[in-house]
Amino acid sequence: DPALAERLRAAIRTIPDYPKPGILFRDITTLLSNGPAFQDAVNAIAGRFADERIDSVAGIEARGFVLGGAVAHAMGVGFVPIRKSGKLPHRTISREYALEYGTDRLEVHIDALPDNARVLVIDDLIATGGTALAGVELVEELGGHVVAAAFVIDLPDLGGAARLAARDVHVEILLS
Ligand code: PRP
Ligand code: HPA
Repeated sequence: DPALAERLRAAIRTIPDYPKPGILFRDITTLLSNGPAFQDAVNAIAGRFADERIDSVAGIEARGFVLGGAVAHAMGVGFVPIRKSGKLPHRTISREYALEYGTDRLEVHIDALPDNARVLVIDDLIATGGTALAGVELVEELGGHVVAAAFVIDLPDLGGAARLAARDVHVEILLS
């Protein structure tokens, strides 16, 4: 929906040279603090999956918690946090993924999903796709089926959406 994409684009702020010179950082805090824009983004994602069976929404720390929690609530399904390492109290499985410099690790509770769960993975933004791919693989390792991975914004030059698609993950993006 081009009109939706334009409304979302107008609500997202771009900060030059953050966190490093030459990077144009998409700042979604201005979207989250704009009630109608936040509601538009959440309803657009929830609406795309209204005709599918979804059992759980899995959100990726940190900004994926804000969006994913709201999407789960809108869909009336449970929310599962995929967290940075060392934050979850019960037994976990984990996946390391590459950052621009070095690596990080995501974790999920081993009992976070119901059997044969159909899962929607949510984050605010996909850049290289390393974070989202780690999240998808964690859901799959728990026996879940990833119906789709959904993002408000894609940075297509970084190839993340193509990387997920190459792994047969359905990708939903509101704004490129
Ligand atoms: C950002 C963003 C995604 C990820 C995308 O999170 O919210 O989770 O980077 O990058 P990628 O596609 O190249 O993996 P960040 O790692 O900054 O963590 P934060 O949400 O905890 O700030
Ligand atoms: N904005 C927010 N998060 C990000 C970005 C960005 O431009 N690039 C990589 N992670």
